[in-house]
Amino acid sequence: MRDAELRRRAIAVLHGNWERGHTVPSRRLYPHQWSWDSAFIAIGWAHASPGRGRRELESLFAAQWADGRVPQIVFNPAVARDAYFPGPDFWRSREAPGAPRRETSGIVQPPVHAVAALEVHRAAPTLGRRFLRHLYPGLKAQHDHLLRARSDGHGLVTIAHPWESGQDNSPAWDAELARVPADVEALAGHRRRDLDHVDAAERPTATDYSRYVAIVETYRDHGYRDEPGAHLFTAVDPLFNALLAWSEEALAEIADVVGEPSELHRARAAALRDALLARCWDPAAGHFFALDRHGEQVSAHCVGGLAPLVLDLPDGVVDALVAGVTGPRFALNDRVPLPSYDLTGPAFDTTRYWRGPAWINTSWLVLRGLERHGRHAEATALRAAMLSAVRQEGFREYFDPRTGEGRGVQDFSWSAALTLDLLAG
Ligand code: SER
Repeated sequence: MRDAELRRRAIAVLHGNWERGHTVPSRRLYPHQWSWDSAFIAIGWAHASPGRGRRELESLFAAQWADGRVPQIVFNPAVARDAYFPGPDFWRSREAPGAPRRETSGIVQPPVHAVAALEVHRAAPTLGRRFLRHLYPGLKAQHDHLLRARSDGHGLVTIAHPWESGQDNSPAWDAELARVPADVEALAGHRRRDLDHVDAAERPTATDYSRYVAIVETYRDHGYRDEPGAHLFTAVDPLFNALLAWSEEALAEIADVVGEPSELHRARAAALRDALLARCWDPAAGHFFALDRHGEQVSAHCVGGLAPLVLDLPDGVVDALVAGVTGPRFALNDRVPLPSYDLTGPAFDTTRYWRGPAWINTSWLVLRGLERHGRHAEATALRAAMLSAVRQEGFREYFDPRTGEGRGVQDFSWSAALTLDLLAG
C-alpha cells in the first residue's frame, strides 16, 4: 500500500472516531475520551486538521479537576451509562470535592499533553499563540498537581493504579498488585464490557480486574484525596516520570512562546531526569526499572523502561538502552514494533494486552528517543516496523510481538494518529 493510501485510511479512522470535540480511542471498546490517548491523537490531528488537535486537548482540559488533575477518562453524557465498565456510576466523580461538572474517572494517566500541545502549535503556528496561552495554565496545573500530590519524596512521582501507567497489566505491577485482596465474586456484580468486544485472552484477567476495582473503591471512598490509606496500590513508573520530564521540557518551550517564565520547567525536567537515573536506572541490566512502594526496583524489562530515551541522557546510558532495544529482549527488526515486555521474560505472553503485545504509542516514544540521540539506523528500522504492522494489519490496538498479527480492536485512534506522524516525518 502506498503512503498516500495509508495516510488516507489513517485520517478516515480519526474522522470515524471523532465525536463532537474529542476522538474516542475506539467506537466500541473505549467510547469516551481518554487522557493520554487524546494527547497522541492530537499529534495525529496536527497533521490532518490542527484545529481538531486543539479541540481535542481543550475538551480534555475542560474536565480538569480543581486540584489540577487531568482525569484518565472524561465520560460522554450521550453514551449509555453502562457502555463501558467502570462507567460514571462506578466512579461517582460528582461526589468528590473539586471534580468538574462533566463526569470523569478519578485517576490520571501519563502526562504527555504538553508535548502534544507543542506539536499541535508547531503544525499551525500561523494560527497564533492563543491556543497555547489558553492551555498553558492547565498544563502547568497538571504538572503541579502530580509533583505535589504524588511526590514519592525522592524526586519522582507515583502512580496509584495500574491504569494510571497506561500499561495496565504490565508484569511490572504484578507483585504490588498481588498485595491487593482479589474478590472475583464481587466482580460478578459488574459486567465487564471489554469482553463483549475483544477475546478474553487478549485482555487482563478477572483476578486483575477484581483488584483494579478494589483499588478504585478505596480511593473513591477517600474522595480521591491522596491521603494515608487512600492507595491500595503505589508504584513509580519510569514511563510516567519520563513523560512528565519530557512534558516539562515542552512546557518550557510553551512558556517561552506565551511569555511566561520557563526556567522552573527546565529545572523540573532536569531534576526528574536525574532522579530517574539515580533511582530507576540499573547499570548492570542497562534498563530503567519501575519501583515498588518501598522504592525497590522491580526487575521486569518492560518497554516503559526504554521511555526515558526521550530525555537528554549520558552517552553510556543511551548506548546501553539501544543495546537492549536491539538485543533478544526487545529484538528490534523492521517488521514488528517493539514488544511491551521482554520476549525472553518469565511473564511473557504473546496476546495479553501489556504482557508482550507490541503497541504503536510506546514504539513511537522509543522512536522519538532514538531520533533525539541520533541513532538513525535503529530509528529507521523501528519506523519501518511500525509502518509494516499497520500496513499489513490495519490500525489495530496492538500486535503479536513475534508474528505482527493484529490484536485488540480495529480502527484504534492512536495507531492511526501516530501513523500520520510517521508519514509526515
Ligand atoms: N486501559 C483501560 C481499559 O482497558 C482504561 O484506561 O479499559
